[in-house]
Amino acid sequence: QTQSHYTFEVREAQYTRLCSTKSILTVNGNFPGPTIRVNRGDTIYVDVYNKGNYNITLHWHGVKQPRNPWTDGPSYITQCPIQPGMKFRQTLIFSFEEGTIWWHAHSEWLRATVYGAIYVYPTKNTPYPFPQPDAEIPITFGEWWINDVNEVFRQSSETGGAPNISDALTINGQPGDLLPCSIPETFKFNVEQGRTYHLRVINAALNLILFFSVSQHNLTVVGSDAVYTRPLTRDYICISPGQAMDVLLHANQEPGHYYLAARAYSTGFGVAFDNTTTTARIEYSGNYTPPSSPSLPNLPDFNDTQAALDFITNLRGLPERSPSPVPTNITTQIVTTISVNTLPCPNGRNDCQGINGTIFSASMNNISFQTPRIDILKAYYYHINGIYQSGFPRFPPFTFNYTADILPITLNTPTKETRVNVLNYGATVEIVFQGTNVVGGIDHPIHLHGYSFHVVGYGLGNFNQSQDPLNFNLVDPPYLNTVIVPINGWAAIRFVAVNPGVWFMHCHLERHQSWGMQTVFIVKNGNSSNLMLSPPPPDMPPC
Ligand code: C2O
Ligand code: CU
Repeated sequence: QTQSHYTFEVREAQYTRLCSTKSILTVNGNFPGPTIRVNRGDTIYVDVYNKGNYNITLHWHGVKQPRNPWTDGPSYITQCPIQPGMKFRQTLIFSFEEGTIWWHAHSEWLRATVYGAIYVYPTKNTPYPFPQPDAEIPITFGEWWINDVNEVFRQSSETGGAPNISDALTINGQPGDLLPCSIPETFKFNVEQGRTYHLRVINAALNLILFFSVSQHNLTVVGSDAVYTRPLTRDYICISPGQAMDVLLHANQEPGHYYLAARAYSTGFGVAFDNTTTTARIEYSGNYTPPSSPSLPNLPDFNDTQAALDFITNLRGLPERSPSPVPTNITTQIVTTISVNTLPCPNGRNDCQGINGTIFSASMNNISFQTPRIDILKAYYYHINGIYQSGFPRFPPFTFNYTADILPITLNTPTKETRVNVLNYGATVEIVFQGTNVVGGIDHPIHLHGYSFHVVGYGLGNFNQSQDPLNFNLVDPPYLNTVIVPINGWAAIRFVAVNPGVWFMHCHLERHQSWGMQTVFIVKNGNSSNLMLSPPPPDMPPC
């Protein structure tokens, strides 16, 4: 039964992890926050009350919000934040999604603790494209800092340095039984031998792509970002922040206790993060004596790019259940570099903690996005000048060997601009994201609001405009909302601009987003009234 009204009260609550207690921002006092369960085709209303001390917004990650970006949520992109004491009613329209997605705060680093799952069931009497599982298990990965996360964010933005890494990875808010003081609350789930379990997997971590695996069991991916996929069976999965997956686990082993474990795939750090291995326990029911400690699954190494690529590039869409065909006639082609950069320490300061006394920055097409003072959607809708500029470049500012070992940093010092790309309604868009090695290569999970896109190709090294498109998969590419652009490589996506409005696109590693690896698409109205942006709701938060 679908409930159509939700009340989300954003407020502080005390939580204890890793032997220490702190106050965190929650929804309704819960960490992780409440799960929303709907059927495809539903519309629901979420009344968000800000009873905390921070400006906040909530975003429904992967919900397309057709013609209604007003309640999409990214702060200063589609709305001004909900101020303490204020309320905002957000409408969620589930026209295209089927499977697992999630919601999270979308201002500063508040999503560290403010997040929850969204389960979108098929419309009534429509079956899954796989046998009905026996039960559902939530698996939401996150990160926990012993210190106040807002402090971590504030410090890194003031000093220009890298934010402190988290103290633990978590599963459903729990660090797992390998970490101090975490044994009793470790997430456990019971299975019956012979049954099939639907794991609803979400990576809500701020800054870490993850590998996860279950000891002695295979995992079969059947959906990704709330779109079905061809079944992909593997002994580990690679999932980036922002991504969600529907995964089947067959309880087909000897009754016993088994670990589900995850750890970082952390290219670019150059160090292992083994201390962050997080665990949950799978316990078969029945009469047996379990070993005193279950064995950990074999996970790929923290820097095993090949393992990540092998998983990522083998995921295929399921065209017979796809909400949209792959566009073939491209009207708008965009090639954009995505880089981590440095900028000089501002005049009069010598305390910057980026590389060699600089400050960290990040860019798309050599532009480090400047957050405006009022939201872009309002500026667009009411024709307010001076908030943003159009003309986000279609092609890189210069060409060179982006992924060479050492690059001259001077060739790539980003400008700070609030520059957007304006698309005509119905444009067929191809974007190639070209990773660079300017400060150091790393994988980037790039997320687009308001759309899913077909991921038609991936590669290592520099994108070759004349050769690489010949190998694009136009038959069964996965249809995602977040794509992992491999370290020192590229990824190509396609979508049709049929959702008018203002839509954010950014790296879903929170630190890269904070440093400016983001841009905005404005999609113009179509030429009939049912192809136009809806009017704003009456209670849009003021700036
Ligand atoms: Cu998951 Cu812009 O967000
Ligand atoms: Cu990034």
